Amino acid sequence: MLDWDEDLKSTDTPAAKPFAAMPSATASREAASISMPAPQLSGESTTSARRGNVEHTTARRVRAADKRIINGQTDVNQLVPFKYKWAWEKYLATCANHWMPQEVNMSRDIALWKDPNGLTDDERRIIKRNLGFFVTADSLAANNIVLGTYRHITAPECRQFLLRQAFEEAIHTHAYQYIVESLGLDESEIFNAYNEVQSIRDKDEFLIPFIDAIMDPNFVTGTLQADQTLLKSLIVFACLMEGLFFYVGFTQILAMGRQNKMTGAAEQYQYILRDESMHCNFGIDLINQIKLENPQLWTAEFKASIRALFQKAVELEYRYAEDTMPRGVLGLNASMFKGYLRFIANRRAVQIGLEALFPNEENPFPWMSEMIDLKKERNFFETRVIEYQSGGALSWD
Ligand SMILES: [Fe+2]
Ligand SMILES: [Fe+2]
Repeated sequence: MLDWDEDLKSTDTPAAKPFAAMPSATASREAASISMPAPQLSGESTTSARRGNVEHTTARRVRAADKRIINGQTDVNQLVPFKYKWAWEKYLATCANHWMPQEVNMSRDIALWKDPNGLTDDERRIIKRNLGFFVTADSLAANNIVLGTYRHITAPECRQFLLRQAFEEAIHTHAYQYIVESLGLDESEIFNAYNEVQSIRDKDEFLIPFIDAIMDPNFVTGTLQADQTLLKSLIVFACLMEGLFFYVGFTQILAMGRQNKMTGAAEQYQYILRDESMHCNFGIDLINQIKLENPQLWTAEFKASIRALFQKAVELEYRYAEDTMPRGVLGLNASMFKGYLRFIANRRAVQIGLEALFPNEENPFPWMSEMIDLKKERNFFETRVIEYQSGGALSWD
């Protein structure tokens, strides 16, 4: 692992930081293109900080200790020296988990779906509702990262993870589209479900204000209020969207796979669940690091507002469970999900330093934990996983 700190200890001075006094949005524009006009900087470092006029002195080098997750003033183009090694390690882990939807054989699912006696109406409802939520949810997630979160995060190793995460969200949207197409479902019905099915619409309407707040081009961090807005958005996204709103759907489809039904779709969901649990864990690390660096944000009032959001999210996801399962199906029923959602909400709350909201809830689906720990080579549903094209296998003809 590279570590440049040793060489720089004697030469770094606070005045020598590149891009000093740059707000995060400006830093992000700088990251987007080095040929853009130099940003307007204040103070003595203005001239030397211009990208087109780089002074080759060690005094301008990035020091890991100066990096910050938000409102950082170090150069966002320099990945190393690493400060947040957990982010880099998670980036490497997500790359090792790479998969593509077309790897999964869908022929058994197609035969089952087309067989009039293959699935019950309640099972078909679950599949259609499920896809109806997910076909647009991961686009929301991708837009939130690319157009919102990314530009406000000033640690390049965290940005590296976010870039990978954004691509994974594209893969997830692709996977859901691939299932819809394979089964020959009515695309307009499924892709419009987020406008037309109330239980799905309600979840999206809960999320959208937190995404819009940080996507607003005029939104910049650097004040208590703005930093709390960003932190709240990160908590909603990691703990409540990826960490809670996905779990009724994942559990339902994976329960189907365990009963040897829709095994192709279930295998795709298993890969997605593994990715999402990594996204959720990264988000939680990010939130906790921001809290450490900015303890002033974590006020009693702020914590109370987060707890209220957790309560609301559990309620919305439970309503979604009821809507997707008006009767017991697959050995599941909506009330089992009440316990599960409370159990997950407790876990997320504790992970970010809040007290459990629903003490003593137990996990009614312990098998879901096994699913999260999927190894790629383990072939749970006995379908085939193809190898990726490696550099050595490329043909240049
Ligand atoms: Fe996703
Ligand atoms: Fe995600």
